Amino acid sequence: MEVKNQKTKDQKQGVLKRIAGPVVTAVNLDAHMYDVVKVGKEALMGEVIKIQGDNVIIQVYEDTSGIKPGEPVVNTGLSLSVELGPGLLTSIYDGIQRPLAVLVEKMGNFIERGVTAPGLSHDKKWGFKPLVKAGDKVQAGSIIGEVQETNIVHKVMIPPTAKPGVIKAMKSGEFTVDEIVCTLEDGREFPMIQRWPVRVPRPVMEKMNPTIPLITGQRILDGLFPIAKGGTAAIPGPFGSGKTVTQQQLAKWSDAEIVVYIGCGERGNEMTEVLTEFPHLEDPKSGKPLMERTVLIANTSNMPVAAREASVYTGITIAEYFRDMGYDVSLMADSTSRWAEAMREISSRLEEMPGEEGYPAYLAARLSEFYERAGLVKTLNGARGSVSVIGAVSPPGGDFSEPVTQNTLRIVKVFWALDAKLSQRRHFPAINWLNSYSLYLDSLQDWYDKEVSPDWNQIRSWAMGVLQKEAELQEIVQLVGSDALPETEQLTIEIARMIREIFLQQNAYDAVDTFCDMKKQYDMMKSIRLYSDLAYAAQVAGVSPAQIIAIKAKNELPQIKFIKDYKPELAKIEKDMDAEFNALRSAA
Ligand SMILES: Nc1ncnc2c1ncn2[C@@H]1O[C@H](COP(=O)(O)OP(=O)(O)OP(=O)(O)O)[C@@H](O)[C@H]1O
Ligand SMILES: [Mg+2]
Repeated sequence: MEVKNQKTKDQKQGVLKRIAGPVVTAVNLDAHMYDVVKVGKEALMGEVIKIQGDNVIIQVYEDTSGIKPGEPVVNTGLSLSVELGPGLLTSIYDGIQRPLAVLVEKMGNFIERGVTAPGLSHDKKWGFKPLVKAGDKVQAGSIIGEVQETNIVHKVMIPPTAKPGVIKAMKSGEFTVDEIVCTLEDGREFPMIQRWPVRVPRPVMEKMNPTIPLITGQRILDGLFPIAKGGTAAIPGPFGSGKTVTQQQLAKWSDAEIVVYIGCGERGNEMTEVLTEFPHLEDPKSGKPLMERTVLIANTSNMPVAAREASVYTGITIAEYFRDMGYDVSLMADSTSRWAEAMREISSRLEEMPGEEGYPAYLAARLSEFYERAGLVKTLNGARGSVSVIGAVSPPGGDFSEPVTQNTLRIVKVFWALDAKLSQRRHFPAINWLNSYSLYLDSLQDWYDKEVSPDWNQIRSWAMGVLQKEAELQEIVQLVGSDALPETEQLTIEIARMIREIFLQQNAYDAVDTFCDMKKQYDMMKSIRLYSDLAYAAQVAGVSPAQIIAIKAKNELPQIKFIKDYKPELAKIEKDMDAEFNALRSAA
């Protein structure tokens, strides 16, 4: 087979010297770090990751078996880039932005090698509506037009590195991504498509302090451990504890306009699940397929590790591109441990000095570079956009002391710790309220004050306090039983149970309970607080804990979760509760 990419003037050709799985070495090749190269007779795509003297070390994105020393290596002189423009939404890509549908069409279910497939369709025509006119000044990031891509409007922008200029002519009508839609007076021409090297963050005007929560409709997240729009969160959890369900709940419900979902499956069937499930997920807000505002990047287990390594960069670059249009984007990576393992495998092939548990010494740096690309920003065109990044971590054996969890913990601001014991008890979401935290509480306080209630922050602290107290008391209860506790503490145990079972437990599969807005979260917590206030008052008035705990009306509270128009029912429960307490107090 011929080398597909013919040599041109500025491409250099070298020779393969050594092959070690996904890592190969070429010599006599003029190359720079991160150049994309075509390896061997089949022109497999690879990327330069190390240069040592005359040795150019390349990670190859495809299976390298059968490749022999002596075969040619051609440098394209380009960096690993993605194509950005209309057509991204609804796409399912591999780690290097090859559309899976096109790959499957070209080569069936067998991963054939050397197949190139562009990220965007270059034939499809899009209705382009210009938003600027001759004489207007534009600069990097300026929005020059728009395309109704799905139910999302795709903003067409001047690329982030372009110099300022003045519009000479704009086109309007149906165009492919390559056709020129904008001409400047200095002669420069722009199509709708942009290309961007994935390892370089797209520039912004400034990063801002995140002060608005990403509302997810999940009570334990929004209520106790919120993430800000533009924030970072990690979900570490052992096998089967609910990482994927949580990520999918966030994809469906979080109030971000665009979702980028990077699935890195370890088991073959896990990615198949994502691939078969995701396209059928409905966007609860629009009733349309969730894919209409989603870009899915899938790494199946039969794909080479180097493509998995690249997938997080491909994903975050696409997320930044939509952010630059002024959208709120949420990016989920499930799971970042698979990405770290790809780094470890490549590093060991490079014979680098291994760090902790064989991971490369630069693991921490790579993780933080990735999470640092999150943020609430003022874009180059002055709009506000955000990328929130939520990474699942799957520590082997659920041991959070391993390097990927530990290094992630140092970087992210929110930690939702999944707990195997809770999932075994069918307490879902199985997020441990004692180990989890959010460092955004202070910066989000004003928002909760204004948008939820001036007493929300206080109620939240109260609930956390009760849960922490319960944990301390549990140790005593286990030794001597709950009857041995002082009366007020028997009440604490009961109120903590209510917070757990009424507020924290939430069923992702129930049509109503799957999403709970902040007002309802507030009302639910407030009713538990009401019970608590009445309970302590009754106890002071001489009512026994057993009687207080036996109050009937409160047993109706868990039902509130499943009722859409819950207010009349909740009001009735609170009234009945009050009446029962009154009766007890007058009898005491
Ligand atoms: N919020 C929830 N509501 C109801 N059930 C849940 C919830 N979260 C998890 N589950 C249950 O737990 C099961 C396992 O969850 P999930 O597949 O998300 O785990 P995981 O951590 O991604 O596992 P793996 O390590 O295999 O990737 C789900 O199939 C579901 O039955
Ligand atoms: Mg999973």
